[in-house]
This record gives sequence, C-alpha cells and structure tokens, in this order.
Amino acid sequence: MKVYFDNAATTAMDDRVIEAMLPFMKNHYGNPSSVHSHGREVRTAIEKSRKKVAELLNTTPSEIFFTSGGTEADNTALVCGIETHGINHAISSPIEHHAVLHTLEVCEQKGHIQLSMLDVNDKGEVDLDQLEILLKANPNSLISLMHANNEIGNLNDLNRIGSLAKEYGAFFHSDTVQTMGHYVHDLKNLPVDAIVAGGHKFHGPKGSGFLYVRKDKKIHPFIHGGAQERNMRGGTENVIGIIGIAKALEIAYEDMSSHEVHVKALKKHFIEKLKADIPGVEFNGLSEDLDRSLYTVLNVSLPPSEANAGMLLFNLDLEGISASGGSACSSGATVGSHVLRALNHQPERDSVRFSFSRFNTIEEVDYTVGKLKELYAVEA
Ligand SMILES: Cc1ncc(COP(=O)(O)O)c(C=O)c1O
Repeated sequence: MKVYFDNAATTAMDDRVIEAMLPFMKNHYGNPSSVHSHGREVRTAIEKSRKKVAELLNTTPSEIFFTSGGTEADNTALVCGIETHGINHAISSPIEHHAVLHTLEVCEQKGHIQLSMLDVNDKGEVDLDQLEILLKANPNSLISLMHANNEIGNLNDLNRIGSLAKEYGAFFHSDTVQTMGHYVHDLKNLPVDAIVAGGHKFHGPKGSGFLYVRKDKKIHPFIHGGAQERNMRGGTENVIGIIGIAKALEIAYEDMSSHEVHVKALKKHFIEKLKADIPGVEFNGLSEDLDRSLYTVLNVSLPPSEANAGMLLFNLDLEGISASGGSACSSGATVGSHVLRALNHQPERDSVRFSFSRFNTIEEVDYTVGKLKELYAVEA
C-alpha cells in the first residue's frame, strides 16, 4: 500500500484544476501584457481569476496580487510593509515558518527593525499578553503571526491579534499558507492587513500563490520590472499558476465543510487508534485538540525506541508511508525542527508529522497505525 500523509508539504493536484490549466498551456499562449487578441484573452482570464479569489475571500480584486507562492508573498508583505510604513519594530514568534523568520532576521541584520520574539509554552501557545505589552511600548510595529503552524497545527486567534493590532496601530501580517482553502477567510471581517497563499497546499499547482494587502495599508512592490500586477510585481505572469490557484480555491470553497468533516474524522480516528495501540504515544503542540489545531495536521511524538531512533521516517517510507520529520535534534548534520526545539521537545523521542487531505481514507490510517504498532512492538 502507498500512503501519502504529507499534505502540509504539498498536495496532489485536483483533476479539475489540471483541466482548467490545460487550455492555457496548449492554445492560449499570448502574453497577457500584449494588446492584441492573443494577449487580451489571457489578460481576461487572469482578471477573472483575481475576481474569483477576491469574491471567495470577500474582498476586492485590487487587494489581491498573484505571486510565485507563499514564500514570495510573505517576503513582499514583510519587507515592503516595513519599508512603506516606516516601521522600526517587528513582533513575531519562534515557531513561524522560515519564510517569515529568515525574512525578518534579514530586516533586523540590515538595521531596518528591532525584532521581538514572543514566548511560546511547551504546547506552542504564543503569549498574547506579552504581545500587548510590546505593542504598548512600540506603537509603530509590524506583527507577523501565522494562522496555523505547519508542523504542529496550532491555530492562532487572528481576531484577538488583529484587534490588538488595530488598538495600537500596528501592521498585522499573518502567514495563512496552511489555512487557505481549508478555512473560510472573510476579509471584510477578519482584522488582518496582509495574508498569503500557496496554491500547492490546497490541490493547486506548485509555484503559484497570492498576497492580499488591505486597501488602506498599501505597500511598495517587492519585485521591480514591468507594470504587471498593477505595478506591484514585475515579470510576465505565471498564467497557468494563476488559473490553477483560482480554480483550486473555488473547488476548496465549494466543498469546504464536507472536506473538513471527512479529514477531521480521519484525524480523530488516527488519534484514538494510536492511543489504543502505542503505549506512551504523545502529541506535539495542540495537534491532539481537534478544535484548536489544523484538522489537516497531526504531530505524533513516539516513545524512545532503539530500533527506530532517527530511523522512523525511513522505516515508514519502507512500508510505503510518506510523512514528514520533526526531530528536535540540534547537533551534527541534523538541524532538526526549530518548532519542536521551541517547545522543548525531548530529542530522544521521535516525532512524525502526518498531514491529511480529502483524498486520504480510513484504510490508510489503519494501515499506518498497524505499521507503527509493528515498528514499536519490536522491543516490547
Ligand atoms: C506556514 C507556511 N508558510 C510558508 C510556506 C511557503 O509556501 P510556498 O511553498 O508556497 O513558498 C509554507 C510551505 O511549506 C508554509 O507551510
């Protein structure tokens, strides 16, 4: 059996997304900036995609900018948000994705900002009281806190963070890469200034993404060149990526609640079976809590085992199961997970992130837990 439980890394493309993209590979090859008919038909398709994304997120097309993915969208929001609004202080957390952490670190190294990191507890919960204290002391701040963590699944309360941002006049960017297409983002009511998406996390194409920036918090461009994306991102558009991400988001919104019910049931069953079959199993962060974590992510911490130490992912791979690592190891060649280190996870326990999509089945969960049971029975 082949099982793909690494959907937080990337997802399989939906056939309907591929169908929507195909004509733009075969027939509609004009450059969208050209004024002739070949160009104009592609321009129209791009603008239809932008309108679709904006409608789904309950915002206006002028606030959506297509990018090459989540990383570029994060870089743009952070670097240009700081630059445009004369921001000299940023607040983030040690469990953000590297697309955010490394970008903010570079801004700090260049002397553009002072960077404050919020404390997180052993469950990965970010200290929002500390956020308020920092905002009081530094009124012109940028806050970057993700909607959901890609490793442990913890969900942040965007409404609470956003209302603090409003109260203290801060620019609020949230990395929504892991929640876009899985949760509703109603931008008329969600108090965020910038959010981002990567199409490949919700059955769209790799190398596609978008950035939303609120109208009254406009920022300068990150990539300079032609006038594409209304002067916000130079370079000929990734037409098939744009068509694909918009279609993928449309499909995601059409069936969001039934997908959530299906995936949540898989996760619940996975947790119950692991608890029944593997003595000493634990869950990292809040991932066991179905209400406070991403329903697509389960981060499992397994009891110390000589047979599997450092080999767990390899052993699972041999059984046809693809999942992601989460070692807290910080020495030698293994860099380990900065998220698990921030949670003080014991390095002698092996951790695996299983992440799900609507294409997964209960049989795959049972097969995987069965294999884990065999792997951990060796020493019993
Ligand atoms: C939370 C988070 N932010 C950003 C990214 C980067 O997105 P992309 O691969 O589209 O550049 C990822 C992808 O792993 C992610 O999980």
